[in-house]
Amino acid sequence: MIRILAISGSLRQISSNTALLRAAAAVAPSGVEIELYSRLADLPHFNPDNEHPLPAVVQDLRARVQHASGVLISSPEYAHGVPGVLKNALDWLVGGIELTDKPVALFNASPRSTYAVESLNETLKIMGARLVSEAFVNVHLRGWTGDETSLVEDPAIREAVRFGLDAFRKAIAASR
Ligand code: FNR
Repeated sequence: MIRILAISGSLRQISSNTALLRAAAAVAPSGVEIELYSRLADLPHFNPDNEHPLPAVVQDLRARVQHASGVLISSPEYAHGVPGVLKNALDWLVGGIELTDKPVALFNASPRSTYAVESLNETLKIMGARLVSEAFVNVHLRGWTGDETSLVEDPAIREAVRFGLDAFRKAIAASR
């Protein structure tokens, strides 16, 4: 079983990025299980002074990343950058080894958002993650109304997500 930790960079109740990850969980190929990380908003602001001891919620994040076969991130772009809440989570992971060599795929719900993806690429690369670019997925969810089943039922989105997950699964399996 391949376990993927999915992290949405949006805290919005009706988030297209979170919905995209939920859709990914719904259409995941057999042998792939996707868990949506739900504690992004609970992480304290990163402060290197507070790494010893690590706050419990950060220990929990590190353990989830460590035990995952891969990490899947889908994030909005804010002012041409990565949302602070997501960068904050990554900053808490810099001091650990959990992301080192960890396969990571990026999904993007808004193809006009190119800066955040580039920035995430750079940050994850310097953190030692193994970016699986063939599993990157771009879909166009602008104008999405909040109906989650519509994502799974949309043939183009379903196929794009399945294609990305399949590429991710193969890359993870090949690295074992
Ligand atoms: C945005 N958005 C945005 N989009 C983009 O392509 N480039 C940008 O620089 C920004 N900046 C920005 C700032 C702020 C404060 C907000 C609220 C929004 C649009 C945003 O990325 C887009 O609506 C995402 O699709 C929202 O994702 P969720 O919350 O639906 O997952």
